[in-house]
Amino acid sequence: MSKVKTSFFCQSCGTQHAKWQGQCNSCKTWNTLTEEVIEKSTKKDWNASQKTNQAGKPLKIDQIDTQHEPRINSGDEELNRVLGGGIIPGALMLLGGEPGIGKSTLLLQIAMLVNCKVLYVSGEESQRQIKIRSERITNASDQCYILSETKTQNIFSQIESLTPDLVIIDSVQTLHTDYIDTSPGSVSQIKECTAEFIRFAKKTHVPVFLVGHITKDGQIAGPKILEHMVDVVLHFEGDRNHIYRILRTKKNRFGATSEIGIYEMQSQGLRAVNNPSELLISDKDEKLSGHAIAATIEGVRPLMVEIQALVSSAVYGTPQRTSTGYNTKRLNMLLAVLEKRAGFALGSKDVFINITGGISIDDPAIDLAVIVSILSSHHDIEVSENYCFTAEIGLSGEIRPVPKVEHRIQEAAKLGYEAIIISKFSKIGKPNDTIKVIPISKIEDLVTYLFG
Ligand code: TYD
Ligand code: MG
Repeated sequence: MSKVKTSFFCQSCGTQHAKWQGQCNSCKTWNTLTEEVIEKSTKKDWNASQKTNQAGKPLKIDQIDTQHEPRINSGDEELNRVLGGGIIPGALMLLGGEPGIGKSTLLLQIAMLVNCKVLYVSGEESQRQIKIRSERITNASDQCYILSETKTQNIFSQIESLTPDLVIIDSVQTLHTDYIDTSPGSVSQIKECTAEFIRFAKKTHVPVFLVGHITKDGQIAGPKILEHMVDVVLHFEGDRNHIYRILRTKKNRFGATSEIGIYEMQSQGLRAVNNPSELLISDKDEKLSGHAIAATIEGVRPLMVEIQALVSSAVYGTPQRTSTGYNTKRLNMLLAVLEKRAGFALGSKDVFINITGGISIDDPAIDLAVIVSILSSHHDIEVSENYCFTAEIGLSGEIRPVPKVEHRIQEAAKLGYEAIIISKFSKIGKPNDTIKVIPISKIEDLVTYLFG
C-alpha cells in the first residue's frame, strides 16, 4: 500500500528538510521543524467515497438555508450554555484538559444523557472498563454504543453501518490513519485524523467531540493548527485536589466564548453546580480576620468568591508573595499601592493570598477584596461577613468602576449580603432596596470606613 510522503518544514521560514533536526538550516531558529504531509495516497478515504470533489458554487447569503439545523440538547445544562445553546450539527468540538480532570467522565455522561444515537469511541479504555465507569455515573442509555478502536478507517466503517447522531472520540492523540506512517500522537497523525473527522462532520452534519491531551504548559498537544481547524475549543480545568471543575470555551464559532460551566466531581460522576456562589464561600464557626468576599463575573455569570489573605513578618530577608488563584504580579502591584498611597509598610511582610474552592480568577474587580483581606489580616480585625466588594484598584490608589456592576449587586442582594462596596464612579441605574450600596473613591476612605 502506498503511504503518504512526509517532510519537515520550518514553521518560521517554511524551508523544507528531508529529516528532522533541531535547527533550521535556512533561518537558524531552533525547534521550529514539524513534520507535514506532502503527498497522500489516492486510496479511498472518507472524502473520496463521498464524491465531494465537485467544486462548490457561490450562493447569495440570504439563500443559504439554515432552518433545518436546530441545536441538539446535550442533556447537560452547563454544556448547553457553554456551547451557546446546545450542540451544533456538523460541529467539531475539541475538549482539552489535564489528565484525570474528568474529560472522559464528562463525555461519557453526555453520551448517556443525550437523547439520540451516540457512538463513543475510546482508544484508551476497553469496552468493559467504559461500562464499569458508566455504571458509576448514570443508568445505561439504550442509544449509547461503545467502540474500542484507534484506526480512523475502522471507525468510519463502523459509523457508516451504525449511523450515529453524535460521535465522541477519546482521544485524538490515540488515533491513527493508514495514510500516514508515523506513530499515533505525532503532529502529522493528529492533523490528518482531525482533518478526516472534519470532512466527515461537515459532510454528514453529525457533530463530533474530540478529546485532546494537553502538554505540560497547558496547550492542547499537537500542532496549534488543530485549534484553528475545529469549530469549538473547550477547556476542562480545575485543581485535582478540589472537587470543582470549570468548563471554559477558548474558541466558539457559534456562540460567545465568555460562558463557563461549573461542575462538582462526585463519586457518581460530574454534577452541575447551579449556585456556585454558595459553594465557593467557606462556612466558619467564628469570625476570622483575613477574609473578604468579592463579587466577580465569569462570562456573564456573577459569582461570589472568598479571598483569604495572610500577612506575617518575613523570616528571611526577602519577603514572600504567594498567591493561589490570583495573579502574583497584580498582588505585588496592590502591595506597592498600599505602601505608597495608604502608608502601610508591608515591605517586610510575607503575604499569601488564596481564592477558596481552587478556582482562579482573572477579573480585576476582585482587587478591592484582595486589598481588604490583606488589611484585615494585617490589622487582625475581621471584616463583617455580610459585606462584599467589587472594584478595581488603580495605580494611584483610586477605586475604579468595573463592568456589569448591577449584575454583581443583584447577585449579592440575592445571596443575602447586607452591603456591597463599589467604586464611587460606577454608573448604576435604579438603586436596589435589599442591599446597601456603599460608593468609595480612594483607598484611604476604605481604610477609615472599615478599620476606623
Ligand atoms: P477521567 O474522566 O478518567 O479523566 P480524564 O479523561 O480527563 O483523564 O476522570 C478521572 C477522575 O475522576 C478519576 O481520578 C476518578 C474521578 N472520578 C470520580 O471521582 N467519580 C466518578 O464517578 C468517575 C467516573 C471518576
Ligand atoms: Mg480519559
